[in-house]
Amino acid sequence: MITIEYLKNYDEMSQYVATLVGKLIDVGTPLNLGTPTGGTPIGMYKKLVNTGLNWNNVHTFNLDEYVGIDKKHPQSYHKFMWDNLHAYVGLNPYKIHFPHLEYDMEIEALGGLDLTILGIGTNGHIAFNEPGSSFSSVTRIVNLSQQTIMDNSRFFDSINQVPTQAITMGLHTIMKSRQVILMGQGEKKLDILKRALWGMVTEDIPASILQYHPNLRVFYCD
Ligand code: F6R
Repeated sequence: MITIEYLKNYDEMSQYVATLVGKLIDVGTPLNLGTPTGGTPIGMYKKLVNTGLNWNNVHTFNLDEYVGIDKKHPQSYHKFMWDNLHAYVGLNPYKIHFPHLEYDMEIEALGGLDLTILGIGTNGHIAFNEPGSSFSSVTRIVNLSQQTIMDNSRFFDSINQVPTQAITMGLHTIMKSRQVILMGQGEKKLDILKRALWGMVTEDIPASILQYHPNLRVFYCD
């Protein structure tokens, strides 16, 4: 059974994951990092950018981006990444990657993902692979579920402003990553983490595919 590693609080979880990622960056060999947005990873990015690491060998590959809002929109994931990571670490723009329809080919051409960091939606989505997504899915445009639109409306002035579509890595794209870290914070994430990791593997709970990943670590805090 997959272990869910409990950390004392959000600060500790952020520090723990930042340290793991920092160690990989510090090795200095090329590192292709799958990067999430949303509330969960903000603390980890804060810790990471304060360490003086050398990011010269890192490429970042975002998991997803909204469709229908501009890159400069305050809630775009381009903007999120700039504000939380890219502005601080001096990555050359050609090492910053966002999803497009040939993303899987681009990722493979650059050597594949070494580590992908994930959050989880209350409905079990990872990246924006909503319930019902095929386990063999690759990067594509998807409709966001009502649940996700509701959950993410906290970042917008009103629910009507939340985009209804996104472009996302697929489940197959994520599963090909050599290592995966999944993070969750708060009780409603604990419930879905348990169902995803300890329940039946089903496309109704996209994160359940991670039960088949050979190199997965899962972190949770209240
Ligand atoms: C974001 C992403 C999503 C989030 C998930 C949890 O890039 O891929 O799967 O990780 O929606 O979001 P938060 O962390 O805001 O609860």
